[in-house]
Amino acid sequence: MRTHLPLFFSLLTTLPAALLAQTVTFHADVAPIIYTHCTECHRVGEIGPMPLTNYAEVAAYGEFIEYVTSTGYMPPWTPDESYSHFVGERVLTDDEKATLSAWVAAGKPEGDPADNPGLPAFPEGSQVGTPDLVLPMAEPYTHGGDMTDQYQVFVLPAAPDNDLAIRALEVRPGNRNVSHHAILGLDVSGTAANLDAQDPDPGYESFGSFGFSAESNFFGGWVPGAMTVEYPPGIGRTVPAGADILLQMHYGPSPIDETDQTEINVFFSEEPIEREVQTTFMGPQHLDEFFYLPANQVRTFHGTMDVSTDVSMISIVPHCHLIGVSWDVFATSPDNQDTIPLISIPSWDFNWQGFFTFPTLTKIPAGYTLHGIASYDNTSANPFNPNDPPQNVTFGEGTTDEMFFVFFDYVLYQEGDETVSLEPSDPSCVGDLTGDGVVSVEDMLFLLSDFGCVTNCAADVDLDNAVTIADLLQLLSAFGEPC
Ligand code: HEC
Repeated sequence: MRTHLPLFFSLLTTLPAALLAQTVTFHADVAPIIYTHCTECHRVGEIGPMPLTNYAEVAAYGEFIEYVTSTGYMPPWTPDESYSHFVGERVLTDDEKATLSAWVAAGKPEGDPADNPGLPAFPEGSQVGTPDLVLPMAEPYTHGGDMTDQYQVFVLPAAPDNDLAIRALEVRPGNRNVSHHAILGLDVSGTAANLDAQDPDPGYESFGSFGFSAESNFFGGWVPGAMTVEYPPGIGRTVPAGADILLQMHYGPSPIDETDQTEINVFFSEEPIEREVQTTFMGPQHLDEFFYLPANQVRTFHGTMDVSTDVSMISIVPHCHLIGVSWDVFATSPDNQDTIPLISIPSWDFNWQGFFTFPTLTKIPAGYTLHGIASYDNTSANPFNPNDPPQNVTFGEGTTDEMFFVFFDYVLYQEGDETVSLEPSDPSCVGDLTGDGVVSVEDMLFLLSDFGCVTNCAADVDLDNAVTIADLLQLLSAFGEPC
C-alpha cells in the first residue's frame, strides 16, 4: 500500500479535479502529452516504428506506452535529469506518467474530440534560418533492407580556399525513416578522404566514430527532434580552408532498401569569432589503470584531468560502445569541498548516445579536477554484449572493441558567462508553458501553481531547477507574444 502514496499525493495536489473524478480522456489529457513528447519521432516518415498521432494509434499501444514511459525507455533520454540539465531534454514529469497510467487503468477512454489540442506544427525546413552554405552528401547512399544497423561516414569538403567562421551546423536528414542519429566531425588530415577512397560504397563504414584516431574532431551531433545549437554572438568555430566535415550516419534497421542523401546546413558567424570553441577529451591515457575488460567481469574505470585555467563548458559527449553500462562526469575543487555535476548516465544506451549541451555556459574554475567514471559489464548478463560467450576486450574502434572517451567543448571563461544561454533563440516561446502557442494568463497561472518547486519543475522557465520570481519575470517579459 505504501508504494501508492506518492502517486496518490501527486494526483491530489497537481492534477485538475477532472482527473480525480477518473475522467482521464485521450483528447483532453493524453493527446497533449503524446503530441509534445512522442509524435516528433512517432509519425509517418520519422524514425519511430509506429505513428502516434490519433486516438486509434495511441489506444492500440496503450499498455505498451504505459510500460515504456514508466520505465523511462521512452522518450529516449539517457542523462539523469535530477543530476544536470541540458538543452532539449526529453523527459516526462511524474504527473504526466501518472496521467498515462490513469488513462490505461480507466480503460483508455477517448473523450470529446473537441478537447484535442491538435497536432503541433512540426517544422519542415531549417530550424535556424536560411543557411549560408549547404553541404550535401556527394551521392545518395542505399541502406539495405536486411534489418541491421549501419554506421557510415561521409566526407564533405567544406571550403577549399578559405576558412569558415561558423555559428551553427544543422543536419538535415535526407530520409527520416532510417536516420537514427548523426555525429559530425572535422578532419584536417585527409585521412577520412583516404578511407572513403578505399571503400567502394559512398562514404565508408565505421562503427565507433570516424574510423581513425577521433581526438579533438567531434563537432556536434543530431538525433530526431533535437534542436540545433547556435553559438552565442562572438563565440564560434573555425573550419580551416581545405578541411573536411565528417558526417557519421547511424541508419536504423529497415525491412526494405532505403536511400538517403543527408545535407548539412552551415551558418556563418555574423560577427568575427572572438572566442573559438575548443574541444578537449578525456581518454584512456587519463585512467588510473590500463584499459582492459576481461571476459565475465564488471569493471569500473576512473579518469581524471586537471583544469589549468578558468573555462566555460558548452557541451559534453561521453562515448563508449556496447559493453559500457554507465557514466558519471563531474568536477571537484582542490579541497574536495565543491562538486560541479556535469552528466550522469545511469543506463548507457549506445543507440541513444548523444551530444549534450548545457542550458548556459558552465564555469569550471582553474585548479578543479574533471572526473570521468565509466562502468563496463563484460558478462553475459549484459544483453548488449556483442560477444556470446563473453571475450576479453581491448580498446579499439570495432563493434566488439570498447572505448572510454569524454569530449568537452568549451571556451575560455569570461566574467558573466554563467548567464549566457545556449538554448535555441526564440525568447518569446520560453514562457509558453501550456504549449498553446501564445504566452498568456494561463501560463502565468500554471507558473504560480508550480511556484516554489525545487526539482523536476514543470514551470522552470529559466532552467535553474527552481520556480521563482525570476521565472515569472521572464514569462512576463514575453507576455502576449505568439510562438
Ligand atoms: C527521439 C525520437 C523518439 C521519441 C521522442 C519517442 N520515441 Fe518511441 N521510439 C523511437 C525509436 C527509434 C524506437 C525504436 C526502438 C529504439 O530504437 O529504441 C521507439 C520505440 C518505441 C516503442 C516500442 C515499439 C516497439 O514495437 O518496439 C514504444 C511503445 C514507443 N517508442 C513509445 C513512445 C512514446 C509513448 C513516446 C513519448 C512519451 C516516445 N516513444 C518518444 C523514437 C522515439
